[in-house]
Formats: sequence, C-alpha cells, structure tokens
Amino acid sequence: MNAASPHIDPPLAMLAELTYRCPLRCPYCSNPLEMTAASGDMDTGQWLGVIEEAADMGVLQIHFSGGEPTVRQDLEDMVGRAEVLGIYTNLITSGVLIDQARLEGLADRGLQHIQLSFQGTEEAGADRIGGFRGGHRKKLETARLAGEIGLPLTINAVMHRQNMDDLESMIQMAVDFGAKRLEVAHVQYYGWGLRNRAALVPTREQLEHATEIVEAARERLKGILVFDYVVPDYYARYPKSCMGGWGRQFLNVTPSGRVMPCHAAETIPDMTFDSVGERPLLDIWEQSEAFTRFRGTGWMPEPCRSCDRREIDWGGCRCQALALTGNAAATDPVCEKSPEHERIAALAAAEAAAGTDEFEYRRFGQGG
Ligand code: SF4
Ligand code: FES
Repeated sequence: MNAASPHIDPPLAMLAELTYRCPLRCPYCSNPLEMTAASGDMDTGQWLGVIEEAADMGVLQIHFSGGEPTVRQDLEDMVGRAEVLGIYTNLITSGVLIDQARLEGLADRGLQHIQLSFQGTEEAGADRIGGFRGGHRKKLETARLAGEIGLPLTINAVMHRQNMDDLESMIQMAVDFGAKRLEVAHVQYYGWGLRNRAALVPTREQLEHATEIVEAARERLKGILVFDYVVPDYYARYPKSCMGGWGRQFLNVTPSGRVMPCHAAETIPDMTFDSVGERPLLDIWEQSEAFTRFRGTGWMPEPCRSCDRREIDWGGCRCQALALTGNAAATDPVCEKSPEHERIAALAAAEAAAGTDEFEYRRFGQGG
C-alpha cells in the first residue's frame, strides 16, 4: 500500500506550531478540536534541537505559528538560531500580543517576514469573529509598527460568509499599510472551520463577487500588492494541491513534538505519528508510515490514478476526503470527477442559504 518514493527531496518548509495557546478564539482555527495542554509544549532546548535538525536536512524556511507563537517568550531564541543556520523565518501571528520592543527585538534577531491575520476591517465585527475584544485595534497597531521598522508584511484576510462585505476595505487596508502581499483566503473546512461550516460557508454569488473584486484589484494594483487567492474548495471544480502534495514540500511539528504532513493529519484515525527526539527528523520525513502513506501517486484510487491532473493536485486533500466521505484514501470529493462532488456542492449551498450566524468558538482543551 505504501508508495514510498525511491528518492524524496527535503521539505521546503517547516511549520513550527510552538503552542496551541492563543488569546483569540477564531471559529475557523485549524488547530485540533482537542488541544494538548500548554504543559505538553516542548521546551526551548527541544525546539532548538528541532531547528538544527531541520537545517541539517535542508529545510529552507521556518514558519513560526501556533496558536499564537508570541505567547512564548523564547521565540526570539528560536528565530535567532534559525537565522544563524541560514533559514528564512516567517512569523504567523494574530499580532495582538506584540509591542514595539518585541517586534524590534525579533527583527534584530533576524526575523525576515511577518504574516498578520485580520478578521475584518470594522472593529466590532472583527472582534466578534476573533472572540477577543480590542484585538482589531492591536492588529492595526502591529501592522503599523511592522511598516515603521521595515519588516516585510503579508496581510492574511480570512474570508467567509460573515465578513465578505469587508473585502474591498481589506484590500485598501493592505495597501495603506504598505503590505507587499495580501492573502485572501476563504476559510477551509478543517478543525474548527469544519465545526462551524454552516456559519461560514459563502453563497456561490458571494464567492463570484469576491473573485471579481480580487481579479480587478490584482490588475489595478500590479507592482504594488501581490495577491494570493484561496477559494473555498466546495465550489471549486478541482481540489487544491493540499500542502503541495502529501509529504512533498512541508512538514508540521506540533507543540508537543509530533511530526505531521499537515495540520489536520491527526484526524486520520489509523495513522501513527512519530515525535522529534524519538526518531531523527530526516528519517521521519523520508521513511515514516505517516509521510509515505499518501506520498506520490501509488496510493491513488480511480479516478485519480488515471487522471492527467494527478501530479498537479496530488489527489487533493486527504483530511477533507476523510471529513466528507469517512475515507482518507478517497478522491477528494470537491473534485468534479468524484462521485460525491454534487452532494458536497449542494450541501455547501444549502448551509449558506440557511444563514446560521452563531459561532462555536475555539476552546483550549484541558485548560492550558
Ligand atoms: Fe485531482 Fe483526482 Fe480529481 Fe484528477 S480525479 S483532478 S487527480 S482529485
Ligand atoms: Fe491534511 Fe489537506 S489538511 S491533507
């Protein structure tokens, strides 16, 4: 069953999930529904060891993420170590815990880029979505500070049915802050996003309108702002190449040190994950059951197996296939060649039309 490639290049990037702690409670958080307590987080020495292993195996980028990575006061040490080892560093943050001294300190240690998420552009609405009063104001302040100290900034606009009207103003905000890149990312339905799908999924009309706005802005702002546009899968014809293909470009290390091919892989019930410290990172990447199970094309069922897109999208997303069909090895049902495709599109349309706006907010597991 396992289609281990004879040769696999090292991963391009590592997502270092430093902790699941976060002051925000976004109802689309990609963290697991059951999160480990903070007491299970790896300590500084363990993380520095992981960064060294990553450098040794040829990882080029580390994305420090969470939860909220700035909760950890040792973030500077990790950024500094990555810098010394020649690894590009990016901080994925909500921005609500950073002040000027902290941001300058991180930049001094070698931080090369900051990716700041926004829930909207209107304060009350944005704070409601993030479940954290005062959050929006702090984010604005962090974006301003990043500009002031010259730290390259990407704004991550997480879009869904309840904030779609803010899209034009999100684009303007990114321009005003001097961001180089704007990621307009429609919510993906894993973790808490799946739990809250009925309150988040846009109507098809909303999606079409959003796409028109992005396309027009992309043209208008050529040379000023680069757009990344992530559409909500359920309305797409073909799935995205999730993680650039399973076990091909990325690895995730969770706060407790488990190494996974993607942030939602733990939902796959019969898969075992190795941990750093118990097995070399390179060995986990190249040989482990979790990384080889869906790597390449050998595992694919029809229609993927004979499809000419099989090395473009690599069969889509395994976690989505599991969530929607109960089988992680099925063709991703957002693909129009999947027998489940029509059912999924109809489900999205029905949920969008029902208009539920109540969120179930992210909760942090056992009180960590
Ligand atoms: Fe991708 Fe499989 Fe659909 Fe082809 S059949 S487009 S490989 S998901
Ligand atoms: Fe796990 Fe897509 S999120 S493969």
